[in-house]
Amino acid sequence: MSTGTTDATGAQDVRALESEHLLQVYKRVPVVLTRGEGSYVHDADGRRYLDFLSGLGVASLGHAHPGLAAALADQARTLVHTSNLYFHPLQGQVGARLAALSGLPRAFFCNSGTEAVEGCLKFARRYWHTRGETGRTRIVALERSFHGRTFGSLSATWEPGYRRPFEPLLPGVDFVSPTDPGALEGAVGPDVAAIILEPIQGEGGVWPLTPAFAEAVNAACERTGALLVADEIQCGLGRTGRPFHSATLGLRPDLMALGKALGAGMPVGAILMSQAVADAISPGDHGTTYGGNLLACRAALVFLDALEQGGLERARTAGARLADGLEALAKRYPMVSDVRGAGLMRGLEMPEAAATRAVELALARQLLVNRTAGRVVRLLPPLNVSDAEIDEGLQILDRVLEQIVTR
Ligand SMILES: Cc1ncc(COP(=O)(O)O)c(C=O)c1O
Repeated sequence: MSTGTTDATGAQDVRALESEHLLQVYKRVPVVLTRGEGSYVHDADGRRYLDFLSGLGVASLGHAHPGLAAALADQARTLVHTSNLYFHPLQGQVGARLAALSGLPRAFFCNSGTEAVEGCLKFARRYWHTRGETGRTRIVALERSFHGRTFGSLSATWEPGYRRPFEPLLPGVDFVSPTDPGALEGAVGPDVAAIILEPIQGEGGVWPLTPAFAEAVNAACERTGALLVADEIQCGLGRTGRPFHSATLGLRPDLMALGKALGAGMPVGAILMSQAVADAISPGDHGTTYGGNLLACRAALVFLDALEQGGLERARTAGARLADGLEALAKRYPMVSDVRGAGLMRGLEMPEAAATRAVELALARQLLVNRTAGRVVRLLPPLNVSDAEIDEGLQILDRVLEQIVTR
């Protein structure tokens, strides 16, 4: 019986074992990653890759971060889990730090992004129920949105391919174009419980919402009292060089869903909320066994320390460098029709075949990026990526694009 070490089996064995025993829902890249250090990961065959995806925006401090490793080892030797039946010293600390960053004073901890979104939807409904408006259940979501794979989150996720096989989903979710402020105005009436949005749509193709759309959201919320749920799971917590992109856009969320970067690799999600929302929720309304356990909270504290001790500044500087480099690439290679995003969340749009090839060629040149929404090569490097690593990634992308055009 394996003890769970990562180097016991070769790449072929790992893939054969998975193909026999795992549900085949992931189209994995044929690489077996066994260890990492900073912005790099190593595969079972000894190749080293520059990781410009950081585990889909999760390994926010890079890999094998010494401070995180030490804190987790210390916590594992002290106390890992107690359930939410008892107090422990760390949840309140993480809640206080997140309140200071976001302006939303109360937190509920969970274990993933989709759970955070589920909680936001439940709390939005509970808010109106508590106020006696039990029929106020409609949700307005955006086209191109992605909020997760569980039923509530999936109901607010736009991509029909993800939704259809699982219908019927939650009733009363309407989708509005994120480029049409007028349509939002028309869609949000007094029966809408909440508007849910990603300030930068990630899976949908790295589309920041426009200031005009953000203004329309604020106006609709003010006019009707609808709650605003900001899904900051991918774009929040420093990824743009600011704590939250909703604030950059001038949005004023009542609820915020967090995940990914928060645990720096540990599965940690959180829902932040206003006092008015918190006041509408009673003991017993929601809960989870694992949420906010000591190991998860310890990871979040390490991450928040790093963010506050120069991390935001680093992400901002590195993000600007990345943006300049990508703009220069787009000028050199006209097949790149758009460069979008903010900070260290960037997408390069190009024809679908080119995007597919770019991801493959980047892998061959030992750079990890991925393709989203068909035509967009997405970059989500760790938030502490160095200037030299940014330059290395840009050089590889340059060679990749050159190879595609001269093929
Ligand atoms: C904006 C957004 N919301 C929700 C989710 C779902 O998070 P998780 O995969 O942790 O459930 C994701 C994941 O990619 C996301 O990008």
